[in-house]
Amino acid sequence: MASLPSPLLLTTISVLLSVILTRCSVAVTTSPCDFTAIFNFGDSNSDTGGLSAAFGQASWPHGESFFGGPAGRYCDGRLIVDFIAEGLGLPYLSAYLDSVGSNFTHGANFATAGSTIRPQNTTLRQSGFSPISLDDQWVEFNDFHRRSQIVRRRGGVFKKLLPKKEDFSRALYTFDIGQNDLTAGYFSNMTTDEVRAYVPDLLNHFQNIVKNVYSQGGRRFWIHNTGPVGCLPYVLDRIPVSPSQIDKAGCATPFNEVARYFNRGLKKAVKQLRKDLPLAALTYVDLYSLKYTLFSQGRKYGFPRPLITCCGHGGKYNYNMHIGCGAKIKRHGKEVLVGKPCKDPSTSVVWDGVHLSQAANKWIFDRIVDGSFSDPPVPLKMACFRKELASDQH
Ligand SMILES: *[C@@H]1O[C@H](CO)[C@@H](O)[C@H](O)[C@H]1NC(C)=O
Ligand SMILES: *[C@@H]1O[C@H](CO)[C@@H](O)[C@H](O)[C@H]1NC(C)=O
Ligand SMILES: *[C@@H]1O[C@H](CO)[C@@H](O)[C@H](O)[C@H]1NC(C)=O
Repeated sequence: MASLPSPLLLTTISVLLSVILTRCSVAVTTSPCDFTAIFNFGDSNSDTGGLSAAFGQASWPHGESFFGGPAGRYCDGRLIVDFIAEGLGLPYLSAYLDSVGSNFTHGANFATAGSTIRPQNTTLRQSGFSPISLDDQWVEFNDFHRRSQIVRRRGGVFKKLLPKKEDFSRALYTFDIGQNDLTAGYFSNMTTDEVRAYVPDLLNHFQNIVKNVYSQGGRRFWIHNTGPVGCLPYVLDRIPVSPSQIDKAGCATPFNEVARYFNRGLKKAVKQLRKDLPLAALTYVDLYSLKYTLFSQGRKYGFPRPLITCCGHGGKYNYNMHIGCGAKIKRHGKEVLVGKPCKDPSTSVVWDGVHLSQAANKWIFDRIVDGSFSDPPVPLKMACFRKELASDQH
């Protein structure tokens, strides 16, 4: 194609340019997106009651800082997904699996604590991983999508509990999953190389689920990357590494390197999805950097001992996998709380050794809401606009 550009090509270029320019100015000047619902997929980082509904409530003192007691969350209070709901002026999400008092008018939460992207071949009791993988969350969503409309036609209370058909295309679809797929390998004694080797398969699964949701009308996707799992007490305590593998922050580098490897792949996968799904707006959100900042420079932000568990018992990190947050023992015939919360959870990054505190979640949310950690860098309320150019500049 060494010849002069043909008039047709020139026309195509100018049409493309004007499309691009229009789209950019649209994103800059229009009013915020009309999100009327949130559908969330994930693990304990965004579970608002799924695992609790099926396998028993996350016990006291979970939820104490905000809900006044257990509220299905593995946290002392609100999760990032709760702050997202608040930020969009929507109610907190009911867990799809929770049949008591749930209201799905403005969305549903399919996440369960311990969920992985790929189905695990172990039971919850064997390994601690949820039987409800992302594949299963998709099956649940698909069922919800179809049946909610049939049941809504019954009218009455059902009409007041379920989303309208159009809410599915207007909704924000949020994803926060992957951490457990990485630890699942390590906890079954795999080496870092072995864990890395299956990351492409995880990303492949993930992409397929996003495509499935798109095929059901999902258009706006908000995708969190995975955190520095090598900074969390449950990993530091359970899988010791050599001193040379501990970084300045006190985190274990092999696990964080795998998390970053996953994240690089996730970012690429999202980029590919933008090409494959022409009507979708996909926002990739870098929570890793913010979480790592909390672990490495927490002191600067009001978290003096960022690696120490608030609610736990004993050991270097105040974490013991056998005596978790809320654990009790019998002493002289009386129940005594052993897994105790610290005096002030709002100064802890880590709540129970596995999950971040409400204060940490809020700190992170405050920094992602304006788009500073997103690709493309669109604020939460603008995450319905496609911005092809932005992501290519990164
Ligand atoms: C579970 O077993 C199947 C069949 O052997 C295998 O293909 C799959 O990779 C396994 N899943 C995990 C997470 O190991
Ligand atoms: C469910 O929530 C919506 C929105 O907050 C509300 O309008 C509706 O009345 C609620 N349904 C019931 C049965 O309370
Ligand atoms: C991993 O290795 C430890 C120590 O050798 C052993 O106790 C444990 O059973 C192994 N776990 C699995 C899932 O193979």
